[in-house]
Amino acid sequence: MKKQIALVPGDGIGPDIVGEAVRVLDAVAARFGHAFTFAECLAGGVAIDARGEPLPAETLQACRGADAVLLGAVGGPKWDALGGSQRPEKALLGLRGGLGLFCNLRPAVLFSQLRDACPLRADIIGDGLDIMVVRELTGGIYFGDRGRNAAGDEAYDTMRYSVAEVERIARLAFGIARQRHRRVCSVDKHNILETSRLWRETVTRVARDFPDVALSHMYVDNAAMQLVRNPRQFDVIVTENMFGDILSDEASMITGSIGMLPSASLRLDHFGMYEPIHGSAPDIAGKDLANPIATILSAAMMLRYTFAMPAEAQAIEQAVGRVLDAGLRTADIAAKGEATVGTRAMGDAIVDALA
Ligand code: IPM
Ligand code: MG
Repeated sequence: MKKQIALVPGDGIGPDIVGEAVRVLDAVAARFGHAFTFAECLAGGVAIDARGEPLPAETLQACRGADAVLLGAVGGPKWDALGGSQRPEKALLGLRGGLGLFCNLRPAVLFSQLRDACPLRADIIGDGLDIMVVRELTGGIYFGDRGRNAAGDEAYDTMRYSVAEVERIARLAFGIARQRHRRVCSVDKHNILETSRLWRETVTRVARDFPDVALSHMYVDNAAMQLVRNPRQFDVIVTENMFGDILSDEASMITGSIGMLPSASLRLDHFGMYEPIHGSAPDIAGKDLANPIATILSAAMMLRYTFAMPAEAQAIEQAVGRVLDAGLRTADIAAKGEATVGTRAMGDAIVDALA
């Protein structure tokens, strides 16, 4: 199959890790007889420097025209002083909104090879963690009206949701639960927020179409607590944009594998943007220190969810597993005193394991 992939390396370690993912995708193409072509575009701080804006129109255009998007990371201290609409992060929101990517999948899994990196007690993690956070990505308070009063001493952000927005993310979450352990926990703040009441009513109604999936509801503050108290109770968590932002960071951290976890941002036609969940780590940029695995696993998600190539996706995941089994570790996942390899060597090993 021929596929065109837009690459948005972004800032910091973005180019380091996206480069390795491209080499892995080339290896997959060679092994399975596909033709992947890549077009690189600017977004984030590098786009501010080169074009004066975080998300140039040509980047959005190129992403729209591609079959899928692979993104590294954006942001860094260099651009921290910029105002809200000119920050690198604006590129992410612009891509998500502009491409209509309303569904964000953030798997939080514990890699058995990295068990010791998990900060939770062994009796809490039991035989492992495998949670899928389904975050609504183009609505809620991150996309609502915001501003200041005339005097500038008061500010507001608004959270709004429509039934249609809640319904489509809920349907997706139930569909995903069907391919897992058939449990959905919908997280809201129903005791306070009107948007949460609409959210809960809608999710409850959608659940009737999925009688084989068990639905529960949880307040977001309790969910934050339950994630560290008893994370194994969760299969799929579905929640609105800001709650999902916060809970997905927490979920990833309890696996101890922040450098390992991929994500997918999707719409109904399966078009998607794929990126590691970690940030741009500017302090180690260009030093051959970053862990490319989260981005490589993001490429695997692209193959699975957008290109419908499950065997190819699995080949990447197995290659990563073999390399971890062989004891290769970048600095972020190494135990104290353990030998480490660089970005490039990790990429090489995964490419070799694929061949
Ligand atoms: C994330 C990030 C972004 C978000 C920021 C950088 C805009 O935290 O992808 O979770 O909050 O969505
Ligand atoms: Mg976040």
